[in-house]
Amino acid sequence: MIEKSVVLIKPDGVERNIIGNILSCYEDNGLKIVALKLMKATREIAEKHYSQHKGKDFYEELITFITRNPLCAVIIQGEDAVARIRSINGATSPTDAAEGTIRHRYARSKTENCVHASDTVESAKEEIALWFPEVENN
Ligand SMILES: Nc1ncnc2c1ncn2[C@@H]1O[C@H](COP(=O)(O)OP(=O)(O)O)[C@@H](O)[C@H]1O
Ligand SMILES: [Mg+2]
Repeated sequence: MIEKSVVLIKPDGVERNIIGNILSCYEDNGLKIVALKLMKATREIAEKHYSQHKGKDFYEELITFITRNPLCAVIIQGEDAVARIRSINGATSPTDAAEGTIRHRYARSKTENCVHASDTVESAKEEIALWFPEVENN
């Protein structure tokens, strides 16, 4: 199935000038960037995006982190894009992420782990609506 997924290169990735390196990982795997923008997430959009984590001990740190500087929001399309991108990103924590994954290579901590990716086709649709309200037929 051709799917779309939302990738966020989080503020740590933008601050460290590794947007290009990270995007190459997806493109080199045959995935297509179909929308892309730099934006500073407001607290409102960050809270909607991470609503499932509200109340967890890392939640406030996560919201502060994701809103502190611009992030790079991307829609990526391709065959089985949702699962493939999660696998290219690697496990949430850099200590668990497999060699060759983005998080193994670049993440510095559990919170500052460089990338987000949609976890299901359904959440991808919600995240496209949230981050790219201007994109039609999404
Ligand atoms: N135990 C934790 N401590 C600190 N930050 C965390 C922790 N778990 C998750 N996070 C942060 O919250 C984000 C969302 O968590 P989760 O949805 O579980 O991971 P993923 O991004 O791999 O889907 C993570 O990418 C990471 O930035
Ligand atoms: Mg998640």
